[in-house]
Amino acid sequence: MKDTTSLISVVDPFTEVNGRPVNTINPPVFKGSTVLFDCYEDFVRAMSGQYEGVCYGTDRLPTQRAFEDAIRSLEGGHLTRAFPSGISAIINTLLALTKSGDHILVCDNVYGPTARFCREVLSRYGVEFCFIPPEVGENIEEFILPQTRLIFLESPGSNTFEIQDIRAVTKVAAERGIVTVLDNTWATPLYLKPFELGVDISIQSATKYISGHSDLLLGTATVNKQYAETFERFYRVMELYASPDDCFAALRGLKTLSVRLKQHEKSALEIARWLQGVDLIDEVIHPALPGHPEHHLWQRDFAGSSGLFAFTLKRDCAEEKLAKFINTLELFGIGFSWGGFKSLVTAGKCQRSKASRYTGKTLVRLNIGLEDADDLRADLDKALGILR
Ligand SMILES: Cc1ncc(COP(=O)(O)O)c(C=O)c1O
Repeated sequence: MKDTTSLISVVDPFTEVNGRPVNTINPPVFKGSTVLFDCYEDFVRAMSGQYEGVCYGTDRLPTQRAFEDAIRSLEGGHLTRAFPSGISAIINTLLALTKSGDHILVCDNVYGPTARFCREVLSRYGVEFCFIPPEVGENIEEFILPQTRLIFLESPGSNTFEIQDIRAVTKVAAERGIVTVLDNTWATPLYLKPFELGVDISIQSATKYISGHSDLLLGTATVNKQYAETFERFYRVMELYASPDDCFAALRGLKTLSVRLKQHEKSALEIARWLQGVDLIDEVIHPALPGHPEHHLWQRDFAGSSGLFAFTLKRDCAEEKLAKFINTLELFGIGFSWGGFKSLVTAGKCQRSKASRYTGKTLVRLNIGLEDADDLRADLDKALGILR
């Protein structure tokens, strides 16, 4: 069965009326802290960790479990756990798999707060980290130390969209017992199947395409069999909780994920190709365009592209001019995050630990939403006129 069908076809009869199942095609929202036991014996079982049912709200109520199960099956992993946000999924994965004295490798193009957590928190607990090139492949060997325990990838990476050779990295890592983690938010599990490429843990910020409506924060970590027990033990101790309302909304988002993604992909490509022909633009950075440095890897590993990409300008303009360009846009909101129905724009200098082709350049990042692509293009065209 194709992902598109399996996303739609799950119907869970959660309740009964007069002995008949009530088959709403969406699950109910289970909310609660206290969950009553049928009898004292079950309570005693729960106290000794022998009870198979749900003991408490943080034990994951059925709505959260339904959401986790849907993501687990899409990603193709062994176990999924939901978190209150994408960054919370990332932070807790890093904590679950490392200990004092470990060394980890982190791609230089990861989401800023991921790197900030390594720098400002992990290092305080004796976990050293080191950046690796954003387009790393089999040269990962050069960076591995005897105490390297984990490699964190994000492909394509934040704002500059470099792609790693995930297969090459996971091969080397597996041979040495190093756990590999991939932030798979850009592609979603529809356009990249991380476990087929040998990744051990896949992260989603479900805040983005999975929910799709910019109205919640939610994250997931999906783990393979090898690391499931370690991960689950940590998760239980942390007693993390993802809101049932948010899990419900994200489950609803999943039903339309494939059609939304197709539209985001189509419009983003149309606009990216058009921008390539605009005299002011230096480089359009979009993995699905043949000129992208790792386009061959995108072609090999990905089943599609989403709606987030960036461009640089031929002549970096003064801050006031850039502000004028961005303020002139009417259909693009100025704001963080992406993956929702509304088009958004952000801009900033490329921040990397090592010099890259984008060093010193201003990157304008576009989240192409679900508005009509011709309208978006006209809006960009008008605003770009300011720079002439
Ligand atoms: C690639 C990537 N990963 C993770 C996150 C964090 O997700 P959240 O906003 O759900 O914490 C973001 C947020 O922008 C992101 O761009």
